[in-house]
Amino acid sequence: NKSNDYEGLKVLVTAGPTREPIDPVRYISNHSSGKMGYAVAKAALERGACVKLVTGPVNIAPPPGAEVVCVTTAVEMHNEVMKSYGDFDIIVMVAAVADYRCASVAERKIKKSGEKLTLELVKNPDIAAELGKVKGSRILVGFSAETDNLLENAALKLASKNMDMIVANDVTMEGAGFGVDTNIVKLIKRDGSRIDLPVMSKEGVAHRILDEVLSIKNG
Ligand code: PMT
Repeated sequence: NKSNDYEGLKVLVTAGPTREPIDPVRYISNHSSGKMGYAVAKAALERGACVKLVTGPVNIAPPPGAEVVCVTTAVEMHNEVMKSYGDFDIIVMVAAVADYRCASVAERKIKKSGEKLTLELVKNPDIAAELGKVKGSRILVGFSAETDNLLENAALKLASKNMDMIVANDVTMEGAGFGVDTNIVKLIKRDGSRIDLPVMSKEGVAHRILDEVLSIKNG
């Protein structure tokens, strides 16, 4: 490890899925296990950073030493991140945030009735995009989970959310994406340069991300 090259730096990490309630017993979510985000938090701690981890519901233990805030919905994650980002130098958004939530949450369990049931969804706040507008000199790193047109979609998100770097993640590849202990990603920077990484442990990917963040920060 790179000893203490993050000493004095404050890193905010989002991780895991969000859960959007439908009624008291059901929700909409995704397959994020939190492994990738927790690996980024752990790697930053190992390198001497002060780390806050804002996490959706997952079944893994957070790295010792991180300040952990548990949230459930995208709106809760948004509120927590927007109230704390000001204290941080580097923000890494690994969370798989639900883009939509139910327009209204039923107070009672929805009973089975007709052949069809329609749920009305409304847009959630885009945390990364909002941070992109107010980030100032902070370094903002996002992830892009894609099944199609990986590089094009990732580059669009990098630009539209004003990120400094995006981690393009083709979640259809074996050994990559949700749930597994490894990942296969491409790091794309604002200047258009790109680093294609081979299959690596999520810890290994996390350290490579942190290497590139420091090189951006130090110009
Ligand atoms: O948790 P694991 O099982 O280890 O899986 C890892 C992972 C696949 C979840 C991770 O590697 C990954 O790709 N995370 C990003 C998932 C995602 O939702 O990507 P996106 O392309 O939808 O979002 C783009 C970026 O905007 C992300 O940085 C996301 O955190 C952010 N975002 C998205 C929507 C929203 N409403 N607010 C956001 O901040």
